[in-house]
Amino acid sequence: MKPINVGLLGLGTVGGGTLTVLRRNAEEITRRAGREIRVLRAAVRNLDKAKALAGDLPLTTNSFDVVDDPDIDIVVELIGGLEPARELVMQAINNGKHVVTANKHLVAKHGNEIFAAAQAKGVMVAFEAAVAGGIPIIKALREGLTANRIEWLAGIINGTSNFILTEMRDKGAAFGDVLKEAQRLGYAEADPTFDIEGIDAAHKLTILSAIAFGIPMQFDRAYTEGISKLTREDVQYAEELGYRIKLLGIARRAENGIELRVHPTLIPERRLIANVDGAMNAVLVKGDAVGPTLYYGAGAGAEPTASAVVADLVDVTRLHTADPHHRVPHLAFQPDQLADTPILPMDEVRTAYYLRLRAFDRPGVLADITRILADSNISIDAMVQKEPAEGEEQVSIILLTHITVEKNINAAIAKIEALDTVAGKVMRIRLEELAAR
Ligand code: NDP
Ligand code: HSE
Repeated sequence: MKPINVGLLGLGTVGGGTLTVLRRNAEEITRRAGREIRVLRAAVRNLDKAKALAGDLPLTTNSFDVVDDPDIDIVVELIGGLEPARELVMQAINNGKHVVTANKHLVAKHGNEIFAAAQAKGVMVAFEAAVAGGIPIIKALREGLTANRIEWLAGIINGTSNFILTEMRDKGAAFGDVLKEAQRLGYAEADPTFDIEGIDAAHKLTILSAIAFGIPMQFDRAYTEGISKLTREDVQYAEELGYRIKLLGIARRAENGIELRVHPTLIPERRLIANVDGAMNAVLVKGDAVGPTLYYGAGAGAEPTASAVVADLVDVTRLHTADPHHRVPHLAFQPDQLADTPILPMDEVRTAYYLRLRAFDRPGVLADITRILADSNISIDAMVQKEPAEGEEQVSIILLTHITVEKNINAAIAKIEALDTVAGKVMRIRLEELAAR
């Protein structure tokens, strides 16, 4: 059978990894795909930078040379960002080409429009590499778990922030130094605030939630909080209480809607997912039939991500000639069967909390705090008061609460901060048991 022709947009970390894997494993990949997957040309901005890697592969600085090339069957978008990526992907679809992308920002923001266009044209848009690097989580959710009503999922889905948290905890490394190392290793986004402020994780969570629950992409409804305000003190106190802090993306079916949130989270250290370190990712998915399942692997980097890109290329190659109606729908559910279940505002989310505050070491302080919590219907699971440091008047108090509604804890925190025996702000970190409930 004649080869299927691919055009690459971008030859950076992921584009370079993709070319390398396609070349190195060409024979095995052809045996799996049923025909050769041949890269015809690639677009980059800087030709000199890409020359050594490209070898005899023709390069262009005009990406439209790739998306408009009539010989190209599949366009692989690995340049990142919204524009010109969106325009190039739409043009490729309009030209009747299949698209493979690792661009979670693009899929989370413009996925609805892109999938509708692809549907109308009868082409495929594959995006396995957009979530959790090399872990085949899209495939697992969309196909492997298709019998299940998904109840919730929770994932460490940003390698850079997990790498930072791990290095801070294990080596006491400074935040800024670890971030630089993550950039050097090719894990971080072009704008690393996407990694450390939870935006990249929210893009990925948006995609996962759409596939898990059969809802449209709703990135703007996701709650996003990153790791930049975490202190070593909190990481240490959490450990003392038997927890690890991880940046989690959580999507959960609740009674009146779907929770969609990214934030630092205390997880019991005995959970497997609490022990996922470095740039590794893991996603826990709870289905009603299968129960909890866990997917683990490298969440970033050249070849792990290329593994997912090439898997998509093989899938597209195999299904290229299939009737579009016989292909797996982009979002796992038939496009006319997407639900309009609302995303819950953060105030309505139910979870447990870790609270840390500084208070003057005087009689009645603890009683005041526990009364405020009790008045707000919040029950306390554990409380620790640290000895004041030599010469200090204030002590650190750490509280773990049982599950409550976010708006209740926020109201209680405001009252606690208003006490004249309490100094400064209360540190609040959400806590999830992640039990098979
Ligand atoms: P890089 O910055 O390493 O590479 C980007 C590539 O795109 C470079 O070759 C760059 O060319 C090229 N490029 C950028 N803009 C244009 C343009 N306008 N026209 C043509 N070429 C362009 O990024 P990554 O490989 O890290 O990321 C690519 C995508 O993969 C992003 O969407 C990212 O979020 C996603 N991703 C990345 C992962 C990772 O571990 N790095 C993991 C999973 C997904 P030049 O170098 O000449 O500027
Ligand atoms: N910047 C991303 C991360 C790349 O660190 O997880 C993988 O999507």
